[in-house]
Amino acid sequence: MGGALEGLVWLLGLALLTVGLVTLARTRLVKRWKRNMDVMDDSAYVEQLATLSAASVRRHFDPYTDIDWDAPSYSVAKNDPRWVLSATDPVGRSAWYQSQSPERQSEIGMWRQANLAKVTLHLESILIRGLMQYTFAVPNSSPEYRYCLHEAVEECNHSLMFQELVNRIGVDVSGMPRWLRWASYGLPLAAGPLPNVFFFGVLAGEQPVDHLQKSVLREGRSLHPMVEKVMAIHVAEEARHIAFADTFLRKRVPTMPRFSRLLLSLYVPIIMRLLAQAVIVPPRRFFKEFDIPRSVRRKWFSGRGESRETMRNMHADIRMLCHDVGLMNPLAQLMWRLCRIHGRTSRYRGEPQRGQPTVPVPSISSR
Ligand SMILES: [Fe+2]
Ligand SMILES: [Fe+2]
Repeated sequence: MGGALEGLVWLLGLALLTVGLVTLARTRLVKRWKRNMDVMDDSAYVEQLATLSAASVRRHFDPYTDIDWDAPSYSVAKNDPRWVLSATDPVGRSAWYQSQSPERQSEIGMWRQANLAKVTLHLESILIRGLMQYTFAVPNSSPEYRYCLHEAVEECNHSLMFQELVNRIGVDVSGMPRWLRWASYGLPLAAGPLPNVFFFGVLAGEQPVDHLQKSVLREGRSLHPMVEKVMAIHVAEEARHIAFADTFLRKRVPTMPRFSRLLLSLYVPIIMRLLAQAVIVPPRRFFKEFDIPRSVRRKWFSGRGESRETMRNMHADIRMLCHDVGLMNPLAQLMWRLCRIHGRTSRYRGEPQRGQPTVPVPSISSR
């Protein structure tokens, strides 16, 4: 009887200690979380955000007033050689694609370009929901509230634009791989409690799309005018979005607790690889639709062959950011290597890669 009572006292003591520790950790976590959202004492950061918000007001686009969707030159024809993928696209560069007939190349090109548009709008949907989640709790007068909402408005316009493009091309594409479509229900929820994790995810989605679109535009070859216009508008506004995520992370990551920073440093290359793959490698439906051999598919999924160099190149800016904010420790470097996206870091944001033409992307007129 005495032994049972003693056991009960121990159990009660242990439970109280656990509750106490959890409460303490929670209080500290909540305090840190709230402190991190109060940015008004950082005048340089406030100024950077004011500049970005002013730029959003000065230069923005509307898909239904800035694009003349019904223009005769925008009509879509199946055998139009302008749908053929270029060598900057890892699918277009593959030996398998180049061995197809011109009609088949153009058919695959239409599917690929429509699917890239669909993947982009899926990523934008995650971003918009995450921005709403993050700004829900920011304090009054925070410049982050205003900028994040400008960005959400722009992303809504992009999504309208990309969906219209998919509809006009007229191919029933699925967009992101299925696992990511399922994960997309939970991912935006991270933006509240784990904004650094979320904004690295944002860069992981925006960087590959931006890289592919810029590469295609810089090539200067004849594109379908509807695709060219959509890409030029997107590239113009993406620069601002990438600048914001970069500024946000440069402010917060260096002051994170050491252990959380170590975990973040290991997470970054994984999310970069996963989302780059989701953008670059077409979904399973594509392989079925065009009866693509297993060996070609395996090569693309394993990050070998044509997709490897593209994936490495597109992350040079992220590697620079990780380096600058203290996320490039030996373990993280190993993780970058395991994910097959290691390589040189950019010297400045947007530095063209070796072999990439330095021709500027075509300009577009703003409203
Ligand atoms: Fe966008
Ligand atoms: Fe964006």
